[in-house]
Amino acid sequence: MQVVKQLQELNEALSTESNKSIGFVPTMGFLHHGHLSLINASKKKADFTVVSIFVNPTQFNNPTDLENYPVSLKEDLMTLEKQEVDLVFCPDYNTLYTNEKPVDITLGKLDSVLEARKRKGHFQGVIRVVNIFFKLINPNYAFFGEKDYQQYLIIAELARVCFPQIEIIMCPTQREQVGLAMSSRNSRLSTKDFEKANEIYRVLKYCKENFDFSNREELEKTCLKKLAEFSEPEYFEIRHSDDLLNNGDKLKSWRAFTATNLGGIRLIDNIALNQ
Ligand code: PAJ
Repeated sequence: MQVVKQLQELNEALSTESNKSIGFVPTMGFLHHGHLSLINASKKKADFTVVSIFVNPTQFNNPTDLENYPVSLKEDLMTLEKQEVDLVFCPDYNTLYTNEKPVDITLGKLDSVLEARKRKGHFQGVIRVVNIFFKLINPNYAFFGEKDYQQYLIIAELARVCFPQIEIIMCPTQREQVGLAMSSRNSRLSTKDFEKANEIYRVLKYCKENFDFSNREELEKTCLKKLAEFSEPEYFEIRHSDDLLNNGDKLKSWRAFTATNLGGIRLIDNIALNQ
């Protein structure tokens, strides 16, 4: 496994593999099974797997959140070595951003609802860094988790407009046995809050079970109340899976999305409700 930090090293490493298909898994490190499932998918699909580890400051709207973001580069590299990843790219801020050519893309609703409404500028930062990575690595496939479904939709749109040669592949959410979606942030939950956090998935499943025969807005309110019994919810919303709108009929594909706080830790999750 090669570990590279500089652009020149990256270019050299990639140019020797130019006859191979490349799978790319961008991460912010502190790796868990969710990340590893993306890496496995890449290893199955592509000849050469590149993983990036970079805690991207431009996507943090809250400086404290950035400061508290867990880092474990040494352990991550050992994990990736075991997974037989081909190349790890772990640049610093200047290496990535110094010659940035900004991307101009219209996202409409995708960048104004749910996470975008709560975390102003967050997805602009995600797009900036993924745009840089895609230009540098030019993979055949890039893998993103269903756990961050809105991010996946936004990246799929970025690829559709600017990188049509890259196939964006969504991988299912990996959960703890009791249901909590795996996340680097879970490591900051107290034991008590970790137990409580499992209820989030129960509420999502309750929503799924009741979706067919409930009024959408009533169901959103009920689920929000259920979340408030053990956490401090920011939203619980039911929206279309393809464009995140919430008008139209029930025959379309729908998803429930939530963000809630436990002991100051912000957790997000979502579930497909039909189809
Ligand atoms: P990060 O939170 O490290 O996540 C990296 C990738 O792992 C994302 O595609 C995310 O959706 C996926 N992932 C996280 N938890 C998962 C889970 N429980 N099951 C399946 N996949 C999961 O998302 C980011 O980093 C950043 O925004 C990034 C795309 C790297 C840009 O900076």
